[in-house]
Amino acid sequence: MDKALPFIPRWKSLRNSLRFSYNPIAALDQYVAEYGHTFRFYLGGMVPGILTTDPGLARHVLQKEHRKWRKSPIQTERMGHFLGNGLLTSDGDYWLRQRRLIQPGFHRNRLAALTAVMNREIDDFLDRRFEPALSAGQPVDMAPLMMELAFRVVAKSLFTTDLREEDLSLMGDAVSAVQAFIARTFRQPYLIPWFRFRGLYREHEGLADNFDGIILNYIQARRQSGERQDDLLQMLLDARYEDTGQGMTDRQLVEESAILFAAGHETTANALSWAWHLLSNHPETADRLRREHQAVLGGREPGFETLPQLQYTQQVIDEAMRLYPPAWITDRLCVEDDEYEGLPLPGGSRVVVYIWGIHRRAGLWEAPEAFRPERFGREQKKEYHPFAYLPFGGGPRLCIGNNFALMEMQLVLVKMLQRFVVEPAPGCEPELQPLITLRPRNGVKVSVRKR
Ligand code: HEM
Repeated sequence: MDKALPFIPRWKSLRNSLRFSYNPIAALDQYVAEYGHTFRFYLGGMVPGILTTDPGLARHVLQKEHRKWRKSPIQTERMGHFLGNGLLTSDGDYWLRQRRLIQPGFHRNRLAALTAVMNREIDDFLDRRFEPALSAGQPVDMAPLMMELAFRVVAKSLFTTDLREEDLSLMGDAVSAVQAFIARTFRQPYLIPWFRFRGLYREHEGLADNFDGIILNYIQARRQSGERQDDLLQMLLDARYEDTGQGMTDRQLVEESAILFAAGHETTANALSWAWHLLSNHPETADRLRREHQAVLGGREPGFETLPQLQYTQQVIDEAMRLYPPAWITDRLCVEDDEYEGLPLPGGSRVVVYIWGIHRRAGLWEAPEAFRPERFGREQKKEYHPFAYLPFGGGPRLCIGNNFALMEMQLVLVKMLQRFVVEPAPGCEPELQPLITLRPRNGVKVSVRKR
């Protein structure tokens, strides 16, 4: 790689900052087209960084030399300010200790018990919320429905019992408001002093505190009752640090649970919404999915043992997340001088891994814009660079909830395709809204009828 990287001057980044704030993907794609796969720029017109769509550099930073790189303060401080110091927002020794503690709880086999919880929640949601939302001939917006479903699935997986409806809706509202606010501080960092002046920080800190307060009540109630459940909270309560044999404090339990809520619902919801957009436009793929479901399940409930046999369903999900990666960008800050193929990366450098750009880079993918679940067949998959596809990130900070999310998405596709036919609604082409996650602006409107 050339040492003298192409450079986008600050004035140009600043000039584009409004456009960037409206749709950063359009702005970054334009830069990639003009300046190539790796270049220096100012993120949002403010923060100097190196943006890359080179899977080799992504692997270098996220995996191979990860010890020299940290999560950037954008993720740890700005998100951590509201969401607390949990796995997603912590770093260094504390993060490693927490990751070692929590990781076993997300092992595939430990998730087996959650399939029943998820199945129940999905059925209940489809009966109670989804079906009544269908009205003949009117387009249905999948985005808020998938958001609600994914939020409920995480909530029920954490606290299987006794979750009150009013708490659930308070928590849902708080988490969306706080995440939307964090996204604003990302897109328009120059307005942060104004947000503070207007009291918006205090307002959202209050919402985050209410959210934590509700979680704390459930944690304390569980401790006091002495009951055991097969849920994520039980896993967090049972986890013991290797060195001390102690468990987490209530404060830590609240922080880790809050992070699971925040990291675990919006991402999955977006992946599902985009998958419905794609499936509505590819009825042949939806039919093939139904045939697979019939062949493997024959009308039975999908379960932990049968999910791995739903190979094509998995491929559709993989391809949906290639085209629309919910986590479309991530970054790392260099804490120890590093180098990548002749490119010096001194301490303080920031590398922005442009996941969207990698997933759609010609040369890495044949016909990158096309929806082709066949690419993810067992054999075909081996042909790609290991970091050409990274919807869950990579290296030691790989998403801890990846198996959870994949399981949930498979169950949702199976259950919804069994009951409904999803078709495009004329004139409703979704647009990108890349916030912290890749949302569809104005939703994903489709037409849905019962089978
Ligand atoms: C389709 C759904 C999901 C996607 C695309 C996704 C994506 C990601 C990505 C890309 C990262 C790494 C970020 C980075 O390296 O900067 C991450 C981390 C994380 N995710 Fe997910 N995620 C999903 C679902 C979930 C679920 C369901 C949970 C929990 C129930 C979860 C919990 C976490 C946590 C706790 C981290 C931080 C891990 C660490 O740093 O140790 N995610 N996720």
